[in-house]
Amino acid sequence: MSGRIPREFIDELLVRVDIVDLIDSHVPLKKTGANYIARCPFHTEKTPSFSVNQPKQFFHCFGCGVSGNAIGFLMNFSHLDFIEAVEDLAGFAGLEIPRASVEYQSEQKKEDLSSLYGLMEQVAAFYVRQLRASEEGKKAVEYLKARGVSGDCAGDFILGYAPDDWRALASRFDQKLLIEAGLLVSKENGQFYDRFRGRIMFPIRNRRARIIGFGGRVTDNSLPKYLNSPETPLFHKGQEVYGLYELLQKNSRPQRILVVEGYMDVIALAQFGIHYAVATLGTATSQAHLDLLFRFSSELVFCFDGDRAGREAAWRAIASVFPSLKSGRQIRIMLLPENHDPDSLVREEGLDKLVERVQTAQVLSEYFFEHFSKDLKLSEMESRSNLRTEAESYLTQLPVGAFREMMFEKLSSLAKQHILDTGAMLSYKKQEKKYRLKQGRPSLPSFVIALLLQNPKFIEIIEQKKVDWDCLEFEGVEKFKNILQVIADKKPANYGVLLEVYRDHADEAIIKKLALMDLMIPDDGVEAEFCDALNGLLKQGREACITRLQAKAQSKGLNVHERETLIKMLANK
Ligand code: UTP
Ligand code: MN
Repeated sequence: MSGRIPREFIDELLVRVDIVDLIDSHVPLKKTGANYIARCPFHTEKTPSFSVNQPKQFFHCFGCGVSGNAIGFLMNFSHLDFIEAVEDLAGFAGLEIPRASVEYQSEQKKEDLSSLYGLMEQVAAFYVRQLRASEEGKKAVEYLKARGVSGDCAGDFILGYAPDDWRALASRFDQKLLIEAGLLVSKENGQFYDRFRGRIMFPIRNRRARIIGFGGRVTDNSLPKYLNSPETPLFHKGQEVYGLYELLQKNSRPQRILVVEGYMDVIALAQFGIHYAVATLGTATSQAHLDLLFRFSSELVFCFDGDRAGREAAWRAIASVFPSLKSGRQIRIMLLPENHDPDSLVREEGLDKLVERVQTAQVLSEYFFEHFSKDLKLSEMESRSNLRTEAESYLTQLPVGAFREMMFEKLSSLAKQHILDTGAMLSYKKQEKKYRLKQGRPSLPSFVIALLLQNPKFIEIIEQKKVDWDCLEFEGVEKFKNILQVIADKKPANYGVLLEVYRDHADEAIIKKLALMDLMIPDDGVEAEFCDALNGLLKQGREACITRLQAKAQSKGLNVHERETLIKMLANK
């Protein structure tokens, strides 16, 4: 699983896979003319504005603006990072990924981590033995039984017990590793002791089954009730959730994921048959949490206490999730009766009632507007404009797309004021028209580059001409030369391959924009059009250069090099 993926392999993959097959297997496509179309999977829409171009090997949606090659599609559709998308695509093509050998340093780092993982494994096993077999552990087992946790469930979650001993781990395992793993705490005198003592232990596993941290609960009323592992090379609280590994074991593509607050909530729900709950680890829900969870399901249900603190927490969570609410991602809010958490509620009401609560949880948009209508009395003019201003400040954080459009529409009808959100309220037709108008007529250099991007094989026509680019002047000539160089070096088989070169590059946006330009040229006229435009550009560039040199000759005079250039150019004119 490690090592850099060779560039050449990625290129080959993009040539071997047909993006039409790939996308069609996720979103059924319909052929119309030269394109394959569908309703866009990245935003909600009634008429298709999503199209896949086979010769160019890329997709584009007029509606929400998303575009890319096969790798980009998987990253967006399946919420994968780059490496994961390449792995998926290789799987789709039936190709094995050759891994370049890793550099020495990362080899060493891997080594370190694997001994840390090993230690965590051994410590968890030690805690399990303490729970099952020690005298002290009996008390912990009694506690778990009293809370209704079954032996099977304790086994599934590898629950354990940390003995009430300052040196239980310190006397058994490597001290340096224990410190790195966050399992020891240092005293002022330089001595170390066990962080977790006299606690029921909850190992936290990442989605690759490795134990990365622990939570520990006291068995009485002492404080703090829970202790968690600190940040370590393995454990980053803000990016991990409890129960994800166990959830994925049961179902790798759950219909929804329930996000709760506590370790015991996840465990109780699982015991009652709800295997799709995870807990944030005593931190607020972060962007990283959302991105992680949306990889596995398109619907997240957030659970909060129904009391005031719970509602406030819900509101904070909502505010922070807004920027990542693309269409196709749904969030629901489930407020529980006061003084209940999912653990106590499922035990009191049973499975069916709880599932019903989950299924009928309020969708985020409803929750959002209810909050505003409640807090700001809508009847008064002033409040209406307050509502508008405050709600708008949230809504403008939403990514452009149908969801945002819907939210603005709803706000405007609520506030009984027409709120213009250009960029979002346009219907598809208008949007497409606007898109074309906005493109405008490209300048000659842009037109040539756009044609070249859309037909990388035209690089041969340019190469045959043996152009001296240093004697040409036109707007953007440097960028032009850069792009030319990339295409000449790379000789991409199609635009999808070329796009890969520009992933995360400063020019990515401009490349995409030019490549998407509809130049309105019939297929059989493209090459002739390109030759014409290229000749025009070369002529224009030469003339601009000559004009500048002649003017300079008359004012400041030319240096030797400039004079030679001018003479040469006038001779070739
Ligand atoms: P709760 O106190 O609501 O936990 O804290 P809970 O799961 O319902 O606990 P039980 O039912 O009494 O066992 C929710 C979560 O907040 C974090 C833990 O992750 C806990 O599961 N927490 C809580 C801490 O990190 N430290 C604490 O002292 C308390
Ligand atoms: Mn609880």
